[in-house]
Amino acid sequence: MLAGDGLVAFPPMNESPFEIRPAVFRDAAGIVRLIRAHPEELVPRSVSDVLQNIDRFHVAVAGDEIVGVVAWSILPELGTAQHPSVELKTLAVDRNWRKRGVGAALVSRALEHIAQLRPEHVLVLTFVPEFFRKFGFTEVPKDKFMHKLYTGCVNCTRYDNPFTCPEIAMAKPIAGATTSA
Ligand SMILES: CC(C)(COP(=O)(O)OP(=O)(O)OC[C@H]1O[C@@H](n2cnc3c(N)ncnc32)[C@H](O)[C@@H]1OP(=O)(O)O)[C@@H](O)C(=O)NCCC(=O)NCCS
Repeated sequence: MLAGDGLVAFPPMNESPFEIRPAVFRDAAGIVRLIRAHPEELVPRSVSDVLQNIDRFHVAVAGDEIVGVVAWSILPELGTAQHPSVELKTLAVDRNWRKRGVGAALVSRALEHIAQLRPEHVLVLTFVPEFFRKFGFTEVPKDKFMHKLYTGCVNCTRYDNPFTCPEIAMAKPIAGATTSA
């Protein structure tokens, strides 16, 4: 449901205590708080990084509180856009808000937004593959997309290399991809 200014409520506002909307600069502190609350699952991100990429975040908001976040990154292509891909990342829902559809609403809204760019794939590295399977993601060998995910892995301090990292790589093809040979 569209509720003016591109805001989407899941389900209708009078039944739902949260809404999903694009992030704005003043959300950065709340986003970083949620990221810091999930050190085991999420790659840390600084306030500066969040501010600089604020147009690549959506938030779930209940009243004045940010109760969920999702972000995405455009993955590198060299020369022409042969396999344009987007990585879904920084997905977290406040523990008190889990199992109420917030995560699903964030991912659905982010996928809708990303699909407008017509990438070939959306990728995710995750500890919760069962959650992402619900949105059409399937497991892929890490080496297939490692050149794409390299930019994130190269700054990782937790594991020596992507193949010792327990996160599972998953991909979802997007219909109507725009590629140039
Ligand atoms: C994963 C996470 C975002 C799910 O958020 P949520 O708001 O609880 O999810 P939802 O309520 O929208 O659940 C949607 C569906 O996924 C299922 N689901 C939720 N969490 C799940 C999990 N950890 N594993 C498998 N399935 C899960 C729900 O049962 C529901 O299924 P249904 O549609 O059949 O009823 C949340 O648990 C979280 O923030 N985890 C910690 C951070 C994390 O791991 N992020 C992912 C990094 S890639």
